[in-house]
Amino acid sequence: MLRTHTCGELRISDVNKTVTLCGWIQKTRKLGGATFIDLRDRYGITQLIFSDDNAKGKNFSEEAFGRESVLKVSGIVIERESKNKNLSTGEIEIKLQHVEVLNTSITPPFTIEDETDGGDELRMKYRYLDLRRTVVRKNLELRHRMAIETRNYLDKQNFLEVETPVLIKSTPEGARDFVVPSRMNKDQFYALPQSPQTFKQLLMVSGFDRYYQIVKCFRDEDLRADRQPEFTQIDCEMSFVEQEDILQTFEGLTKHLFKSVKGIDIPEIPRISFAEAMKYYGNDKPDTRFEMKLVSLTADLVKGKGFKVFDDAELVVAICAKGAAEYTRKQLDELTEWVKRPQIGATGLIYARHNADGTIKSSVDKFYNEADLKKWSEACGSQPGDLILVLAGTEEKTRKAMSELRLEMGNRLGLRDKNKFSALWVIDFPLLEWNEGDPNLLASLAGRWHAKHHPFTSPKPEDFELLNTDPGAVRANAYDIVINGVEVGGGSIRIHNRDLQAKMFEVLGFTKEEAQKQFGFLMNAFEFGAPPHGGIAFGFDRLCSLFGGAESIRDFIAFPKNNSGRDVMIDSPSEISEEQLKELHIQIRNSN
Ligand code: AMO
Repeated sequence: MLRTHTCGELRISDVNKTVTLCGWIQKTRKLGGATFIDLRDRYGITQLIFSDDNAKGKNFSEEAFGRESVLKVSGIVIERESKNKNLSTGEIEIKLQHVEVLNTSITPPFTIEDETDGGDELRMKYRYLDLRRTVVRKNLELRHRMAIETRNYLDKQNFLEVETPVLIKSTPEGARDFVVPSRMNKDQFYALPQSPQTFKQLLMVSGFDRYYQIVKCFRDEDLRADRQPEFTQIDCEMSFVEQEDILQTFEGLTKHLFKSVKGIDIPEIPRISFAEAMKYYGNDKPDTRFEMKLVSLTADLVKGKGFKVFDDAELVVAICAKGAAEYTRKQLDELTEWVKRPQIGATGLIYARHNADGTIKSSVDKFYNEADLKKWSEACGSQPGDLILVLAGTEEKTRKAMSELRLEMGNRLGLRDKNKFSALWVIDFPLLEWNEGDPNLLASLAGRWHAKHHPFTSPKPEDFELLNTDPGAVRANAYDIVINGVEVGGGSIRIHNRDLQAKMFEVLGFTKEEAQKQFGFLMNAFEFGAPPHGGIAFGFDRLCSLFGGAESIRDFIAFPKNNSGRDVMIDSPSEISEEQLKELHIQIRNSN
């Protein structure tokens, strides 16, 4: 080892020891006749000191002490005169006796400190420097801890970690695939896995019984703060289980992670059905850190009073924002503009103030008298001091807009504390949804039923019959785990019967031949004694960012992509040479 200690290690009890440290120069400053250097490594920062007298004739040259130079220094640990309580090594410093410059650094493009002056793009370009910053490094340390504790828990529960292939087969039913041309098989392509779904099911057919893998998945979809084109799942599968067993096992994992990584005991995770989630929160991944449930204002409360907006509406829905009756006209106008933005899409916002004196005044007083408004108040459970907000319009759009408004009010009222955690199981998802033309799916899949989770999910046995008559009403044995409004995981009980699987593909609009060509391997396997099985996958990056109190998953991934799916550090994707293209039998057609 080049060093005797790390930069985060020395304490007052080490005074008088002769030590050697290695690290990067965070900062150098001259004070009187002495020079101070903050030397940083992964473990912390230690202050070094040498006097001008001391430096004479030694290797202490000015240019060696530029920011981010790498030093190996030796000296004696002494007690500091002015101590720094914010630093674990803040009571001591090292009086230098010897300095060796291991490497110098050109001026970094941004300051390597918690509060940096580097913009997003610049930090991504020099990600290796960004990763020197303590805040970013801590995120990856958290990720490491989460992975270790995941493995600890699952190992204790008899799960085996098995690796599955990364070069697999393209299937059109999920998100878009990333594909890889095959040199040895002309005009043929591998696909990168969107998840190891079919392989983990095949492992169940093989009798592995309990499988897991912390695994990279790839999806060519539109990117957002919580979506990356390559991301990581904690992917799990179990045999001889029912939904209840899976919920229990992975509630156990969630509790274990909260306890072991954050020291938090979370209570039993409540469950609600998809239908309830949509009704009360307008959303299948509700943030349950706060109440503010959606309340439908029924026809007898709102219709027939001459207010056309409500009379024409499919849905009139309200929320009660506690303590917000004092919102000013300006704030309400601004909120109205907010709901009218195209991302939210409401046509307007109606409000009723439940004043401290008990009176209720609304923005539609022309149509609704105090007695009418009292009924709204009863329906919403408002108290003096609260604000009732109402949206109206078509069912789906209005519910969605209200769900956004609820979250926004949660933000504005400070109800979404990132240090508070509220987990929830959402169960009984519909098996299918009608695809009007989802931009994340291939255009050829529009105008067909689409598997809400994936095509291997089992319908609830009591709904089997509906597959023939009313596919949209079939419920699945599928579940999501949601924490603070983030879908951190999802899974289902699977189909393990060939005929049912074939039926499912038929409902999804596959011909027999297409189903056999694309998924014959799985359906064939089901003929060799497939056990009942089910599983779940957690989005590992999402789970880490949630534990780290951040919204974007990017800072929990060592080398992430930007919103255009680019790695700006290595400049990828990039063109490849003519020679490579030729070997891959690919002709790039120039459209000009
Ligand atoms: P699903 O598609 O729901 O299920 O994915 C599981 C979890 O993975 C996370 N996730 C993502 N995280 C970051 N970036 C993305 N682009 C991204 N896409 C998904 C989410 C999600 O809940 N094979 C099934 C699981 C199963 O049935 O067992 C599957 O992949 O947190």
